[in-house]
Amino acid sequence: MKVEKIPATEGTFNLQDYEQAYANFDWADVEKAFSWYETGKVNMAYEAIDRHLSTPRKDKVALKYSDATRDESYTFADLSRLSNKFGNVLKSLDINKGDRVFVFMPRSPELYVSVLGTLKVGAIVGPLFEAFMEGAVRDRLEDSEAVAIVTTPALLPRVPVAELPALKHVILVGAEGELENGQVDFQKAMDAASDELEITWVDREDGMILHYTSGSTGKPKGVLHVHNAMVQHYQTGKWVLDLQEDDIYWCTADPGWVTGTSYGIFAPWLNGATSVIRGGRFKPEDWYKTLQDNKVTVWYSAPTSFRMLMGAGDEFVKQFDLSSLRHVLSVGEPLNPEVVYWGLKAFNQRIHDNWWMTETGGQLISNYKSMAIKPGSMGKPFPGIHAAIIDDQGNELPPNRMGNLAIQVGWPSMMRQIWKNPAKYEEYFRFKGWYVSGDSAYKDEEGYFWFQGRVDDVINTAGERVGPFEVESKLVEHPAVAEAGVIGKPDPVRGEIIKAFIALRAGYEPSEELMEEIRRFVKEGLAAHAAPREIEFRDKLPKTRSGKIMRRVLKAWELGLPTGDLSTMED
Ligand code: WT7
Repeated sequence: MKVEKIPATEGTFNLQDYEQAYANFDWADVEKAFSWYETGKVNMAYEAIDRHLSTPRKDKVALKYSDATRDESYTFADLSRLSNKFGNVLKSLDINKGDRVFVFMPRSPELYVSVLGTLKVGAIVGPLFEAFMEGAVRDRLEDSEAVAIVTTPALLPRVPVAELPALKHVILVGAEGELENGQVDFQKAMDAASDELEITWVDREDGMILHYTSGSTGKPKGVLHVHNAMVQHYQTGKWVLDLQEDDIYWCTADPGWVTGTSYGIFAPWLNGATSVIRGGRFKPEDWYKTLQDNKVTVWYSAPTSFRMLMGAGDEFVKQFDLSSLRHVLSVGEPLNPEVVYWGLKAFNQRIHDNWWMTETGGQLISNYKSMAIKPGSMGKPFPGIHAAIIDDQGNELPPNRMGNLAIQVGWPSMMRQIWKNPAKYEEYFRFKGWYVSGDSAYKDEEGYFWFQGRVDDVINTAGERVGPFEVESKLVEHPAVAEAGVIGKPDPVRGEIIKAFIALRAGYEPSEELMEEIRRFVKEGLAAHAAPREIEFRDKLPKTRSGKIMRRVLKAWELGLPTGDLSTMED
């Protein structure tokens, strides 16, 4: 198949010749950029913030935060001082190296200060998306045995403190009135804290951040990354984000997801860039204004957002001055060629797709500025990354054959643990020497990778990863639901939507009201993005003889495809 290419662009980008850069690359050279290369002492927050204080970047704006009511700028020196203070707050609560501290709040400067301060005392930070409801919050705090959570009074009712014996401190941003035992007023504690802190130096392999993510079975799993991940964040920030000294960078992702930390906190600040953070919900007008008013130069977002902007119309985008943009990137789900062509038309920029996962910690396959883009392809492996397509026995396949997308183990930001679950961790490495992603893909004769789908049942809705099992478990908690099977159904804007097939308990009849009630039940118990947009009632669900719901059959029904081998199905 002949694919049209969009030619490489020029710029200050330093990966001029991909093949050569790939051949000459060595992670050990990247390590020389860090202070610990000399001292042996490492801490991500120090490298991202404090290291710049001895350079002209000291008074450069690091964080430009705005939402409907706030508009504030913080320099690297400001963030250093504030995160020192927060580190001292944690120390006064006897929170130390290795302890888990969660942040559960909407984007705000306080959130970023909390993350940095937590890292400075060597504790492990666990970011939670603000839309999580009680059940989702409980699962994560329980599994990680978090000792503290930073949250807001509005979100506090979703933190079941009494059911979490390990949780000793609730730090409240925007606290009002009388506090209960174990509660700390963030602002009062910050005001009282010293702005000088002795940073806790840790080992490169010590835990840094715990992101929970979904698989096809079981509860969400805690993916642990270590301080060493900075090597990858730093270099991909240079070569994929193409960050230069004068860039104004905007990553639209919330830190509740890995893109919002690896590329919303670490990569930009390790490279000394100015980062724009916009609070509040997605609205096309608000987003275009954010780009225009901040004169954003490098913009990292997701296909679902680009599709929604595209849906807002070409006339609309023309009302804004987006001429500052010089580099646009996308991650999280397949980027449709149509969207790439729209980007060229709407703001005269190529949208650079790249591929990675929570587990990989950083970008592994990307389109680079200096490379021709084949719309629909995720691009080529980052230097130092050996990506391949392997079959179900672990053998590498030749070009143009579809199989498991796998990466040779040993890149700096690879996850180091699934929290308290070594068996789950081992599953990723079942073929010796390979990390198996769970995605299927093929590689063409020029070395470009093409995403084909998930191998398992994991759903990707609007770029958010949802485990069907988690939704099914919540559904069957509803008194009317006997059994539930959940699949992703293709959708032009969200990529996939969640569809639930439900068998009702005796005494319940299908109705619109019941559908609405069940939907709300998941929304309020788990998260809005996990609630099924579509529900179909069935008398019976297809199951194996061992009682497992066959999602593959549900999907085939939905798509009108052949159901395949049904030999394991009960009568
Ligand atoms: C899954 C990982 C790490 C960024 C946010 C998502 C899908 C990711 C692409 C892409 C097609 C993609 C994969 C992957 N995905 N990037 N460029 N093209 N699919 O992280 O929530 O851990 O999800 O997202 O299926 O396995 P995540």
